[in-house]
Amino acid sequence: MPTLIVVGTQWGDEGKGKIVDVLTESAHYVVRFQGGNNAGHTLVINNKKYILHLIPSGIFHPHTICLIGNGVVVDPEVLIQEIEKLKNEIDLSPAKLKISYLAHAIMPYHRALDIARESKAKGNRIGTTGRGIGPCYEDKVGRRGFRLVDLTKPEFFKEKLKNVLEEKNFLLRYLGAEPLDFQSIYEKYLEYGEYLKPYLSDISEILWKAYNEGKNILFEGAQGTFLDIDFGTYPYVTSSNTVAGNACTGAGFGPSKISEVLGIVKAYTTRVGEGPFPTEQNNDIGLYLREKGGEYGSTTGRPRRCGWLDLVMVKRAIRLNGITSLAITKLDVLSGLDKIKLCIGYRIGSKTLETFPESLEDLKSVEPIYEELPGWKEDLSKISTYEELPKETKVYLKVIEEYLEVPIVLISTGPDRRNCIFIKEKRFF
Ligand code: GDP
Ligand code: IMO
Ligand code: MG
Repeated sequence: MPTLIVVGTQWGDEGKGKIVDVLTESAHYVVRFQGGNNAGHTLVINNKKYILHLIPSGIFHPHTICLIGNGVVVDPEVLIQEIEKLKNEIDLSPAKLKISYLAHAIMPYHRALDIARESKAKGNRIGTTGRGIGPCYEDKVGRRGFRLVDLTKPEFFKEKLKNVLEEKNFLLRYLGAEPLDFQSIYEKYLEYGEYLKPYLSDISEILWKAYNEGKNILFEGAQGTFLDIDFGTYPYVTSSNTVAGNACTGAGFGPSKISEVLGIVKAYTTRVGEGPFPTEQNNDIGLYLREKGGEYGSTTGRPRRCGWLDLVMVKRAIRLNGITSLAITKLDVLSGLDKIKLCIGYRIGSKTLETFPESLEDLKSVEPIYEELPGWKEDLSKISTYEELPKETKVYLKVIEEYLEVPIVLISTGPDRRNCIFIKEKRFF
């Protein structure tokens, strides 16, 4: 009865969606446990590209049930659009997709506040996705939020919305934004509640039963370790815990029942939005990685900032998540570079650091220490076994594995489901 948590080890967009899709081949359940539609998970199946924001990336496997846990913030409009868009192609009935009663709803004022705060912040922007994620989590913790189940209780919803909206409109006016109309939100959200009602379920109970029946369960992380609200580069982070520990809280599943944690590592580093990024390459290398890797946000279309792989960061991610295996993605993007650099330490003034600094001020002033390796020219997307890889690629992987002291079990060499090589005997399920 193996259970596997999949997490990003960098600043998101590591290729989690693609790997989750590949591993779902043998998973009975795939569960999202945090984040919302700030996530953009891309799958390429039979040359067709799909970007999922809320629906778990296991959805294209007919035998797999997909769950959205209590820790996710759900914009009902976005979820309904996602279901409507895909429902003619795949089964999206309530037997296949189940959503926690307890998940919080993103309301129109969450989006409006997110956008208004960012535009007022000018030089101090976080660079959020503008999807209302932060304000929704704030209300959850502040006990002003609406759980999805509340949208199916008209009287309760009406009274609470009246109170909450009064305060939100006060804030919106203060921030220079338009106040919102009660009646139209009320009516629209009751309709969303009606639509989603058949999908609402006790996810924790479903998982408990599945586990006891010996089913394979995969927990799909969103964002990445360094966007975690506690351990990320605060305040340039998202508003949820993205680390593996939150898979338990965000789905209602006990920690003693987790078997493995797989960390997804992009073969270089990217970041969308503001915040420090020690190995960033504001030069031809950065441009090369962005163009070759198609590094434009799956959610907002913003160009991603690009740089070398930072092993100091990934090592910290391994410790924070309890990672037991690694998947290296987008190795094909590095083909064609003469030299490839790996960050193996930092320097601050005359001091050398071997661990990732917790202080943002320190992180802003570190200078990376690099190990330089030879590049390779071959197109890796045509290769299907480890043995066929160029010797320089094997060296690159070996240096990473030795530094991180965790086995690399699979590598990804292209966006398609088929571009995946298991380089160890190990399978998770
Ligand atoms: P996620 O948020 O972690 O699921 O990652 P995204 O989907 O936002 O970004 C990863 C991007 O890289 C997507 O466009 C994927 O289709 C693509 N991708 C994933 N794995 C690979 C790979 O091994 N090689 C290449 N070239 N592209 C990949
Ligand atoms: P996936 O799951 C990359 C970033 C935003 C911003 C910060 C806060 O596709 O890896 P938010 O809207 O969450 O309040 O924005 O977090 N961010 C992501 N960056 N991938 C993501 O998700 C992200 N989700 C949020 O760009 O810097
Ligand atoms: Mg993404």
